[in-house]
Amino acid sequence: MKISYKSAASAAMFVLFSSAILTAGAQGKKPVPQLGKSTLKQVIDAMTLQEKSKLVVGMGFKMPGFPPPVKGKKAAAIDIGGFTLPPSDPEAYEIPEKVPGAAGRTHAIARLGIPSITVSDGPAGLRIEPKRPGSDKTYYATAFPVATLLASTWDTAMVKKVGVAFGNEVREYGVDILLAPALNIHRNPLGGRNFEYYSEDPLVAGSMTAAIVKGIQSNGVGTSIKHYAANNQETQRNSINAIVSERAMREIYLKGFSIAVKASQPWTVMSSYNKLNGTFTSQRHDLLTTILKDEWGFKGFVMTDWFGGKDAVAQMNAGNDLLMPGNPDQSDAIVAAVKDGKLSMAQLDANVERLLKIILKSPTFKGYKYSDAPDLEGHAKVARMAAADGMILLKNDGNALPASVGKRIAVFGNTSYNIIAGGTGSGDVNKAYTISLLQGLNNAGYKVQETLSKNYQDYLADAKMKQPKPKNFFDHPAPIPEMDVTSIAGTEAEGADEAVITIGRNAGEGADRKVENDYNLTPNEKELINNVSNAFHAKGKKVVVILNIGGVIEVASWRDAVDGILLAWQPGLEAGNAIADLISGKVNPSGRLATTFAMSYADEPTGKNFPGVPEKKPDHVIYEEGIYVGYRYFDAFKVKPAYEFGYGLSYTKFKFSDVKVSSPDFKGNISIKVTVTNTGDVAGKEVVQLYLAAPVKTIEKPEDELKAFAKTGLLAPGESQFMVFTLHASDLASFYTDKSAWIADAGEYKVKIGSSSRNIEKTVSFNLAKTMVTEKVHKALVPQQAINELKNK
Ligand code: BGC
Repeated sequence: MKISYKSAASAAMFVLFSSAILTAGAQGKKPVPQLGKSTLKQVIDAMTLQEKSKLVVGMGFKMPGFPPPVKGKKAAAIDIGGFTLPPSDPEAYEIPEKVPGAAGRTHAIARLGIPSITVSDGPAGLRIEPKRPGSDKTYYATAFPVATLLASTWDTAMVKKVGVAFGNEVREYGVDILLAPALNIHRNPLGGRNFEYYSEDPLVAGSMTAAIVKGIQSNGVGTSIKHYAANNQETQRNSINAIVSERAMREIYLKGFSIAVKASQPWTVMSSYNKLNGTFTSQRHDLLTTILKDEWGFKGFVMTDWFGGKDAVAQMNAGNDLLMPGNPDQSDAIVAAVKDGKLSMAQLDANVERLLKIILKSPTFKGYKYSDAPDLEGHAKVARMAAADGMILLKNDGNALPASVGKRIAVFGNTSYNIIAGGTGSGDVNKAYTISLLQGLNNAGYKVQETLSKNYQDYLADAKMKQPKPKNFFDHPAPIPEMDVTSIAGTEAEGADEAVITIGRNAGEGADRKVENDYNLTPNEKELINNVSNAFHAKGKKVVVILNIGGVIEVASWRDAVDGILLAWQPGLEAGNAIADLISGKVNPSGRLATTFAMSYADEPTGKNFPGVPEKKPDHVIYEEGIYVGYRYFDAFKVKPAYEFGYGLSYTKFKFSDVKVSSPDFKGNISIKVTVTNTGDVAGKEVVQLYLAAPVKTIEKPEDELKAFAKTGLLAPGESQFMVFTLHASDLASFYTDKSAWIADAGEYKVKIGSSSRNIEKTVSFNLAKTMVTEKVHKALVPQQAINELKNK
């Protein structure tokens, strides 16, 4: 029996239909168990093998632009420009979608009261179709700031607020589970999806994930934290084998996931596309069951990434409970495997049970009457506030910023007019609007140089008309080259008080970025910066660059030419308003880098192992840098970055004082107190960062590691805030591969309190008398080959 939900009303009919079955039972026949009314065991016992095999395999994918499979004929595979997808389940076309544009659905089993649940992307906002045939109503969603910006807030309360608003849209548009957040590590700046991810540091990534998951799930909907694990590139993403040491896995690539799972219990985890040490992650029992479920106590279910992995039976056995988007061949393989003993019924039942437990909590199961009318206006305010909270002032010579409202501003750079709210692919959002920088400055009350703006708008309109149409989901037209301003820069410098130049970058699913003309500025971007700077500096006027980017770029070669740099990231739909909030000083910048800006790509520790070998079409990538990712590398190897991890300026100044440790000796846990005072002239927020340097015994350790952080409230000039951080035994430990254990070595621990990884204001220390095993874990994820890991000695 197939049923579909076109609306909340039909969901209600489904409930009636289920009770009708029960009534029939009461009239004599043996009642059929019903989800939510009978025990899970009764429901699972009543399921046929075919039903189980359908439940653990999604309903398929309706590929936009492709005709439905012909009834009775085996459907053909779908080629989407280099990617071949398996044939879809005809049901994906036959059964009307509850939420058009959602990425996937599970099968309903109506006779047992099991509804189909809907899952939808993505990390910066709910990704659904904004329009539906035959209706004028729109279904836009809020484009929140991208994850890299949210992490730069260092403000988990703010990120939770974003989650509360975000989750409301998930619920009110009828979706059960959001396919986000994503928390892979920024291993290399060229990672095409880095904008979807938080940080190079697992504590930041894990804490941000936990915060947003709590916010989203407070709405009674689920999340899917992704992509688990070691999915740090897009090049050959469906087949690349990441070869990673057990220690780097535990300390860097799994750590954020473990923090998020333990602190927020996401309803689901999405396994990744890649192989890890020789096996697809979705087919690794040690990763999905031993570590995730047994060691960390994950209670939800695991789903594959879309079309991820190769072997449905191995995936079931590994504990990958749901295969997405699903096709009937996978269900057939599961049925056959149970029949010939390759998959035990007990394992399949365990997968089914995990799914049912989450389905029971879903709004669809509960018959929630969603409104299709979330509070988009209210959520835009949240997006703007978070965007302003996470932007980072990188440079501010001679108080280039704030610029008083009313000033005449010359607005340069294509992206000032076409601001990039967020990245491409499944991380993109169908939003109603994006406020450009031009609009933002106008809204704030600046006088924008009109002729220049008109020139830009004409130039862009013309260039856009000439751009080729994208061939498919993964195809994006090349960026429009910067307009030549040589002949007009001088006139603008005469007429304006200050210049703003926006440099933009976009990237997303399906491809990594390149060093030339992407990580590095293009020749014509450099020319733009030089022309404008020369003209404005000749008149004693300031030039500020706005970076509207999703991932790190090179800044060292051109930053001396300008007075100010504001890193706006990709700030969501309120972009221009949020940037203007900082330019005007309405908001004092308080974002800090959660990812290092190197002096050049050549300094990147992962550079020689990205995106893998062989060069043309990599099939494997060796993580030779081991644990030395991001600041862990730059600090230990004394390589000076352009802007270090944790860095960011403010319009005011702060002082840290009274830094005290609760005891000279560690006994179970220890607290560190600090007082932060705003010593400047305007109100502002500071981020207090706690780094720990552990004693080195038999294994090498990073110079220091971030172990705690917190953002102050808005402190008025002269105002202080008292803060306390608590470290637990697990915060002291490193992963010892030979013992498969987390061990805290005896000796002196230095606690460094600072406003960045390199701006340490106070250091205090405590002693651990005896070496402690803080946690013994399973031997798992063992590489099949020796890795020549980077050593510091
Ligand atoms: C992406 C996932 C996404 C899924 C569903 C995949 O291509 O890697 O992040 O959730 O598609 O759209």
